[in-house]
Amino acid sequence: MNKDSNNSVHGIWGSRWIFILAATGSAVGLGNIWKFPYIAGENGGGAFVLFYLGCIALIGVPVMMAEILIGRRGRMSPINSMAKLAKEAQVSRRWGYLGIIGALAGFLIMSFYSVVAGWALYYVYKMASGAFVGASGETAGGIWQALTSDPLTLLGWHTVFTALVVVVVARGVNRGLELAVRILMPLLFLLLILLVGYALTSGAFAEGAAFLFNFDASKLSTDAALVALGHAFFTLSLGMGAIMAYGAYMPHKVSIGSTTLVIGFLDTLVALAAGLAIFPVVFANGLEPAAGPGLMFQTLPIAFGGMPAGVLFGTLFFVLVVFAAWSSAISLLEPAVAWAVEKGFKRWVATVAVGIAAWTLGILSVLSLNDWSGFKVIVNTPNDWGLFVDSATWQALAAACTSATGQTWFDFFDYLTSSIMLPLGGLFIAIFVGWVMKETHVRKELAMGNFKLYLVWRAVVRIFSPLAILLVFAYSTGLWKPGETVEVKAGAECELATYAAMPEGEAVAPVMVTPASDVPVEEIPAQESDVPVLEEQQ
Ligand code: PFF
Repeated sequence: MNKDSNNSVHGIWGSRWIFILAATGSAVGLGNIWKFPYIAGENGGGAFVLFYLGCIALIGVPVMMAEILIGRRGRMSPINSMAKLAKEAQVSRRWGYLGIIGALAGFLIMSFYSVVAGWALYYVYKMASGAFVGASGETAGGIWQALTSDPLTLLGWHTVFTALVVVVVARGVNRGLELAVRILMPLLFLLLILLVGYALTSGAFAEGAAFLFNFDASKLSTDAALVALGHAFFTLSLGMGAIMAYGAYMPHKVSIGSTTLVIGFLDTLVALAAGLAIFPVVFANGLEPAAGPGLMFQTLPIAFGGMPAGVLFGTLFFVLVVFAAWSSAISLLEPAVAWAVEKGFKRWVATVAVGIAAWTLGILSVLSLNDWSGFKVIVNTPNDWGLFVDSATWQALAAACTSATGQTWFDFFDYLTSSIMLPLGGLFIAIFVGWVMKETHVRKELAMGNFKLYLVWRAVVRIFSPLAILLVFAYSTGLWKPGETVEVKAGAECELATYAAMPEGEAVAPVMVTPASDVPVEEIPAQESDVPVLEEQQ
């Protein structure tokens, strides 16, 4: 960045390409390589993927343009840019709260993002040590289990990653990072292609590809729609101000529309390549596509373990995953830090403070994988729901009611940010640009050559995006149901209230008999569903 060419106190990107690299660095991260494949797996594949791609093209890209233009016009942290543009449009400065909620979302995401990036760091070391050479699904699953059940190791790597991020953000988004992104991103892509090549030889490529791309509308559940929408925001770093913050450092002449298209395209390409690298390995080895957060960590090591020079490529791959996560995590902290700097704090003081706070909160995510895996922040049954449910109550409920779902802290932070805060942030950003800002300002900032295209974009941001986001919310909460209504079964076995009301110790009393069998709950093995275990299928 150089400081002289424009009026952001934080600096300006050197060129259009540096902006593209930085924004792509923010967008391409764990969301593409780790999260996209596993949520596609959990939500049944094809229909989910298609809906997700629709969200990227029809909501994500237009909202990204809106975010960048707010940032570039405001030239400050998202909080102050929003407040400044609200003043310019002569509406309440309270629009700045949107920036505050966004900065908070970034901090919440950082708390669990750095735990996952910590796994990748650990895998660099494991790969390099040759632990996966010739590994079977069982070996890979065992290594994953051993890691996630050990809070201290998890905490250690979580700490290392948080420190890496804090160092870069504290120094300003400097040339070092730009250089790293410039070299590492293309390298990451090349390695993904190598992995897709390996997957082609695995014997189950067609099955993997079919899983990702075969459209079966009946598989798109209400939950899946919201997860897909939320992930479109997550993967493009939208709805919380990260891209807005980067937009504030964008040179004036650069075209927002074409730049956004490049970023959206690259992001999607990486996600699909990751999916095509992972699912054939899943099917070829009889693994479980719905394995959850451990999916990438249990499948790709098998691929590396079976290829020539796998130790080298595998180590390199996880190094690149760490870099992708690193360049994303920086943008998670940037909105909060830029705001604190504008408040008069030194940059390093602000960064260390936000970093320590996110690190501390991250401990909850670490414990979610082991000691506290039974504790659920939110439990949903077909009949009711509850907050802060202890392990014994949860286990009794889960044993009796298979459709009950519970979220650990880790799941909860992910859900709260991806499925709620980011889409809501995107909704208000679209409304702000579409309805609140003066059209002349918006047009000037976008400077789109093609007037018809501009009109399409404007209609999307004003009407289509807000409506689509609201509809997905309504659909997932059951307020709006196209076609069939969901059947809700009555019965004490599927009501949290029944179990929660029991005095402690009695929650697992043998009175609770599952309808399917006569085995008292006591004898049913506890369902520790949180640490995903890969099932060996014969
Ligand atoms: N887009 C990043 C990823 O896909 O991994 C995650 C992310 C970064 C989300 C920055 C939100 C954000 F503001």
